[in-house]
Order: sequence, then C-alpha cells, then structure tokens
Amino acid sequence: SKITLSVIKADIGGYVGHTDVHPDLLEIAKKMLKEKGDMLIDFHVTRVGDDIQLIMTHREGVDSEKIHKLAWDTFLACTERARELKLYGAGQDLLKDSFSGNIKGMGPGVAEMEFEERKSEPVVIFIADKTEPGAWNLPLYKMFADPFNTAGLIIDPSMHQGFKFEVYDMYEGKKIVFNTPEELYDMLVFIGATGRYCIRKVYTKNNEIAAVSSTQRMNLMAGKYIGKDDPVLIVRCQNGLPAVGEVLEAFANPHLVFGWMRGSHTGPMIPVSLEDAVPTRFDGPPRVCALGFQLKEGKLIGPQDLFKDIAFDSARKKALEIADYMRTLGPFEPHRLPLQELEYTTLPHLMEKLKDRWEKD
Ligand code: 13P
Ligand code: 13P
Ligand code: MG
Ligand code: MG
Ligand code: MG
Repeated sequence: SKITLSVIKADIGGYVGHTDVHPDLLEIAKKMLKEKGDMLIDFHVTRVGDDIQLIMTHREGVDSEKIHKLAWDTFLACTERARELKLYGAGQDLLKDSFSGNIKGMGPGVAEMEFEERKSEPVVIFIADKTEPGAWNLPLYKMFADPFNTAGLIIDPSMHQGFKFEVYDMYEGKKIVFNTPEELYDMLVFIGATGRYCIRKVYTKNNEIAAVSSTQRMNLMAGKYIGKDDPVLIVRCQNGLPAVGEVLEAFANPHLVFGWMRGSHTGPMIPVSLEDAVPTRFDGPPRVCALGFQLKEGKLIGPQDLFKDIAFDSARKKALEIADYMRTLGPFEPHRLPLQELEYTTLPHLMEKLKDRWEKD
C-alpha cells in the first residue's frame, strides 16, 4: 500500500531574533508527535534557522485532516512555550485562531507526496531559511531538466525522456504543466520569475511523483508582511530519478534568492550542515540544508546531513564572497528587493507621509 511523506513547517518564534529555534520547542514537537501521532509510521523533527520542520510518514494520504491537525496542534504547543520564553515573533507563522480541516492557507508551509515505496527509496528533504518557495525553481530545473547538472538525463535510458513540471502562479492561484525537454524555453519564461511562479511538483513522464515543494506565500494570505515563507522541498532519488549526488549538485553554485534581512533583500543561498544553519550575518545569508533518508516500509532511516560534505566548501566560500559583495550595495536594488517585492518596509507609511509633497512635473 502507498506511503505518504509529509513535511510541514512553521516559524514559532526565533531564538535569538530570527536566527535559531530554542531547544525546548524541538523537545515539545517531538513529544507531541510521539504522544499524539498514533497514525504516524515514523517522524523526525528538525530545524533550519528559526523554522521547525515536522517530517512524518503515514498512510493517511496527502491533505489528511488528521495529519494536518496533528501538525497544527504541535505548533500550538510550541507557541505556548515560545510565549513563555518571550521568543521573538512567537507564533509568527500561525495566521488563524482555529483549525478548519487543512493547514494550507493557515500560515505553515506544506510539502506532501504519496507513492508506492520502491525496492529502495532514497529521499532528500531540503529545508531553507531566509528565503521563499521560488528559491527551489533554479535547483529543480537543474536537477530534472539540465543535462550539465544531471548526467542521467543523457546516459540513463529510464530518464532520457525527461520530466513534467507543475508550475504554480502564486498571485492568481493557477497552475500549468510543462513537458521537458520539449517545452523548456516556454517554462523558463515563467520559472525565472521566482517571486510569482513556483515549481510545485515534478513528475516522470509516467506520472510517478518525483519532487514536491511548499508553495504557500504567507504574506499574500495575510495581506501584509509577516516573515518569509521559508520553504521545504522533497525529492525522491535514483532508479529513473536523479541520483542523490545529482540532486545535491544543483546547489554547488550558490544562486541568488529573495528573503535575506527583513525578507527584503537578495542574497546567495549557502548549502550548509544542520549545525551551521544559524543565519546571523544581516540575519542571513539564506541557508539550505539537505537531509537524506532511506525509507523502509515508511520508517525514516536517517537522516544523513548531506551538505556536511567538504566538497561543498568551495560553494560556501563563493557564497560568502557574493554575500560580501551584495552587502556593499546597501539599500540599492538588486540587493534590496524591487518595490513590488518589498514587503517589510516603512514604504507604505512613508508614501502616505509624503503624499502631499509630490508635485506634478
Ligand atoms: P555506485 O557504483 O557507488 O553504486 O554508484 C552508482 C551511481 O549511480 C552513482 O551515481
Ligand atoms: P524569518 O522569515 O526567517 O522569520 O525572517 C524574518 C526576518 O525579518 C529576518 O530579518
Ligand atoms: Mg522568524
Ligand atoms: Mg525563518
Ligand atoms: Mg519565515
């Protein structure tokens, strides 16, 4: 029977500022999943920066009310402790007061996939802080459509036909499916605009699910800035899908993403070990971690902290150089986000204050 892998995340409050998660919150999350998670096969609680991820396996399918409620109740229990400790932005990502069937649209980020577990089922779960779902577009494109990244697209007969990408328009709430390599150029028009179009799913041409990202945009739901939607991504690997090393290779050249300082700056995404996932410089730069698991009848064998590899040291070094350079631009674009993306700002207030000072010219 099919297994569902659910990754549900939220920022429940930062320790200190927006840099990390307090250990008490992780303990509470583990305790909640252990005590209330009868329907789970297995779980793993982790964090990146100030975001908590609940990694859960079960047989309830995607969008299960039971699973979503469990995640919601877990985040609520963590919020209670976050309030006691007066952590920064306690309950930041919980936008609603009461649970109503599905956690999507309530603030937390969700990525879920249901599949028949293969003879061997390696999965990589990417988790990121100080960025947003569009940050996955470039690496997903590399993993599943770029033969300079993924050798298997050329030399593995079971991958040679390419993949299907579901692209989601976060402003209009619409989706479209592109076939690659046939429609690469059409797709790139959209996925290059990372603030609006997100790759939400990747399928094989036989409709086997290969990757799922979290694509909610919280500020669009809330109608105002309340932190970035630090995203997660699940990728299945090997055997007709990209190898683990091909999936990780997509992060070897740090790309620029939105979400640094106040969610309002562009910076390089640094692949780091879990230990190094504490973004402090100018509240960043943006971090990505990769947790590898082998599934065994839904049991999570792992994690392997995949970016710990010294082979990513030069990517880190390059990212730090890019970070130094971007910082020299200060309040100027493109370090500062373009106006329409600038969410956390004195700008609306300033516009109002200066509105009578502007003269027609
Ligand atoms: P091994 O020979 O180490 O199993 O590697 C096979 C492979 O596909 C690596 O990408
Ligand atoms: P988070 O989305 O990680 O909470 O970051 C918010 C912020 O303003 C950092 O400067
Ligand atoms: Mg935060
Ligand atoms: Mg965060
Ligand atoms: Mg956030």
